[in-house]
Amino acid sequence: MKNYLANCTSTLLVLLILLPVGAFAVEDRSFTESVVIFNTICAKCHEAQCSGRLSFDEALEQSTNHILRHYQPASDKQWLQKELFDILNYMKVKCAFYPLNKPVPILKTWESDVLDEFSTLRERKYFIPVGSLSAGKYWLILELEKDTKATVQLISEEFDMLIEDCFDSSNGRIDVRFTVEESGNYYFRMYPREAARLIRLAITKSETDEITDEEAGALR
Ligand code: HEC
Repeated sequence: MKNYLANCTSTLLVLLILLPVGAFAVEDRSFTESVVIFNTICAKCHEAQCSGRLSFDEALEQSTNHILRHYQPASDKQWLQKELFDILNYMKVKCAFYPLNKPVPILKTWESDVLDEFSTLRERKYFIPVGSLSAGKYWLILELEKDTKATVQLISEEFDMLIEDCFDSSNGRIDVRFTVEESGNYYFRMYPREAARLIRLAITKSETDEITDEEAGALR
């Protein structure tokens, strides 16, 4: 164990010396942000566009105005425009959501600090890869910092909507019953009517149609 730790530390040191400061962390964070922006804002029109690539070099320049019309905060961030462009390109070529390099919690419970990374800051639109779900019945439980109406979606990796509805939270809670017929990877998306921070998200497999205290308690 000691040896392993020592090895680990020295590898880390080498990495730290070789890499420009924080290269991994920064790139990763910005890319998550770009993927969230794309999948909440651009997705309204571009979701599931699977029609070849936009490989020509002028394509990004030509679409800058268009991108800024739909997402003005990218105006002084060329890297963000480029990433949004690349994400659309990826969707067109691979016909898939851009993969996010973030671990999915084993118990499928997300807390506010993690959730913040998956939201647009001002409007609090959320896009979260929730990982793989096997066939069965589930509860999706949301806790919001304040009551609001929210459009909640659960989307398969083939872009089928498993949940797509507007819900009114009560005491900051929205509970949604759903059934997975085909196992696969799923994605959660939420558009709150008023910006409301998500403080907890949990997905739990359950045969009971009434949510039990135990299940609700397990979320705390
Ligand atoms: C209201 C609908 C709508 C929204 C929202 C939207 N777009 Fe578009 N976008 C279009 C249409 C329509 C076209 C031209 C036809 C097409 O889809 O190819 C287009 C074209 C593009 C193109 C040029 C390449 C191409 O596919 O022809 C890029 C790049 C692009 N959009 C990126 C974005 C990004 C990034 C966002 C989010 C910031 C976004 N769009 C938001 C409707 C939209």
